[in-house]
Amino acid sequence: MILVQDQLKDQSEVRIDIEDRGYQFGDGVYEVVRIYNGQYFGMDEHLERLERSAKEIHMTLPYPIELLKTRLEKLAEANDINDGHVYLQITRGVAERTHQFPAEPTPFLVAYARKSPRPENKMREGITAITTEDIRWLRCDIKSLNLLGNVLGKQKAMDAKCDESIFIRSNDIVTEGSSTNVYILKDGEIFTHPANNFILNGITRRVVLELAEEAGITVHEKTFNKQELMDADEVIISSTTMEVTPVISIDGKQVGTGVPGKVARTLQEKFNERIDKLQSVKN
Ligand code: PDD
Repeated sequence: MILVQDQLKDQSEVRIDIEDRGYQFGDGVYEVVRIYNGQYFGMDEHLERLERSAKEIHMTLPYPIELLKTRLEKLAEANDINDGHVYLQITRGVAERTHQFPAEPTPFLVAYARKSPRPENKMREGITAITTEDIRWLRCDIKSLNLLGNVLGKQKAMDAKCDESIFIRSNDIVTEGSSTNVYILKDGEIFTHPANNFILNGITRRVVLELAEEAGITVHEKTFNKQELMDADEVIISSTTMEVTPVISIDGKQVGTGVPGKVARTLQEKFNERIDKLQSVKN
């Protein structure tokens, strides 16, 4: 079953109009929310960000967020998801193809839930990355359906037999990964790009910053450059799907000692505790 507007439907009943503005312009916003043990992780934060993204592109949601929350609960239940995620997108709806907004937009919401395992191996062993120029627009804070810059970045990593691209703006500043936030550890302190228009303020990023604080690790929301990335003691990425994952090599050079570092492990342990807490709330 999938969610279409506010109704659960069988996927085979659903047709997408070729004049949907999401399809033609990427004119819409989205979210990916993780489900652990049948419970959504950070749902309120994801929905808040969804509302913000919509507002930033002058789009109104088709119905209130509280109702959306109950529908998403039903969606996870109907699909019997224990470990998985939900993908949700809202477009500016169907209209004759003109660049400007339609006079009376009818926002169109679709969400589906999928079973997906946690990335255990990558979290344990770490991932490899390349650096590449950040060619994206200047509103990366909006979780927009327009992901071409991200898609090209990820493909470049795949072509290099790596897992992720780390983006660097033309001013030499490291921003984020193609679908992840990036952190470096230097002399026991964490640095990550400030949450401004150059990055997506990840929900996992917010959790990571809290966990670091809990662990007594100083965090600087401050920019760093490519050399600082390459010289870091540890490099870590985070996202809803990748959780907290160490990066063990960048552009073919090993990060630190070339194995997942201590701080990555500490954050992973603390992240697991958060997930376990979710489970105990349920029981
Ligand atoms: N990606 N930065 C970018 C560019 C992203 O696409 C994502 C998430 C993140 C991390 O955000 P969060 O912690 O809220 O997942 C950072 C999602 C998972 C995706 O597009 O599949």
